[in-house]
Amino acid sequence: MPGSGLILAIESSCDETAAAIVARGSRSLASVVASQIDIHAQYGGVVPELASREHLRAIVPVVRAALAQAGATLADLDALAVTSGPGLAGALLVGIAYAKGLAFATGLPLVAVNHLEGHIHAVLLNEREAHEGHSDKEEEPALALVVSGGHTHLYLASPVNETWRYRLVGRTLDDAAGEAYDKVAKLLGLGYPGGPWIDALARHGNPHAVPFTFAQIKQKAHLAGRPPRTKAARTAPIASLDPHFLLSFSGIKTAVLRYAELHGLRTAAEARHKALFGGAVAPAHPAIDDALAVTNQQTLDLIASFQHAVVGDLMKKTFTAAESLGVRRILITGGVAANSELRARFIAEANRRRVHVLFPTLKLSTDNAAMIAAAAWPKFVAKEFAPPELSAEPSLALGI
Ligand code: KG4
Ligand code: ZN
Repeated sequence: MPGSGLILAIESSCDETAAAIVARGSRSLASVVASQIDIHAQYGGVVPELASREHLRAIVPVVRAALAQAGATLADLDALAVTSGPGLAGALLVGIAYAKGLAFATGLPLVAVNHLEGHIHAVLLNEREAHEGHSDKEEEPALALVVSGGHTHLYLASPVNETWRYRLVGRTLDDAAGEAYDKVAKLLGLGYPGGPWIDALARHGNPHAVPFTFAQIKQKAHLAGRPPRTKAARTAPIASLDPHFLLSFSGIKTAVLRYAELHGLRTAAEARHKALFGGAVAPAHPAIDDALAVTNQQTLDLIASFQHAVVGDLMKKTFTAAESLGVRRILITGGVAANSELRARFIAEANRRRVHVLFPTLKLSTDNAAMIAAAAWPKFVAKEFAPPELSAEPSLALGI
């Protein structure tokens, strides 16, 4: 029945078609995710045209499954929500067109949600569920690290009245951390997405074997008046950010490649790929025992060292930013937040510094629609509805 605060959300920004129903942004009744990983794994990355086609195929069954899981009908809903960006234009458009059609047919209001804000609300949704609807900690500002295949961004998230305001504090200048995981896995002959493979194999290597370092990004490199020619410069005013909170992951990916070439590990990587996948479809879940059987210790040490360095740099930038902003709550979210070493080391360091670090459940770490429904709730309460001309915004930024 309307009035119980049910929002049906749709997410289709990348390679997951998802629908969820969440009550008042704090109780998840259904969350359905149709993954396209098997399709894209054959190409070692997301193919935008295939993603759009698969979203078209999946969207109706996924929405139906969410309604069935919640035991609800369209007549029970109070609003609809949809991801409007950032993401792949064609993929976003499938979700937006469907949501607009449904809004028109049902007369329900539609809320547009930024995918990055969704990731932040994945953590807040977990927290509200744990505290049965409300968490007094939410009154406090938090530092949010969104770390996924497309983003590595630090935001100061502050509750203002009933909604949230965001300020971009730091970000990667080039590759996202998840992108580095995916590229390193690919060059070592492992599967896609690379994160889960590297996460599992890193446990068998020596993290101190290869001393990868991250250079401090220099002030003048991005404050010289002309913006650097990087992806980041095209989508955000990075010149105004403190260089201590800027990150870069394309260098370590190249360093891993050089190391592998120099130590003759590349031929073995090709053989590994053949042994694991035999030219056929890669398994959706990492076949770790099979991978261990065809991976020598030097490669395992390289994998462990890569992960150790990436997690170390994420920690350094995040904790320094939290300290400088005087924030005592850190939210870590996005696909890479599923990483076991990252979770363990962030928790240990947070305990040492007596600050709180919060992660979403593993299910809510990667793309899903429950986080979109949760982020939509305060906007629904504030009557911030999407305009009728809502369209996909592939480079949509979050906050100021
Ligand atoms: O949030 P997400 O599902 O999609 C994007 O919005 O990008 O994140 C996907 C990314 C991929 O790059 C994948 O390799 C990475 O998250 N990932 C991981 C792990 N699980 C997924 N990275 C490190 N460790 C993991 N366990
Ligand atoms: Zn995402």
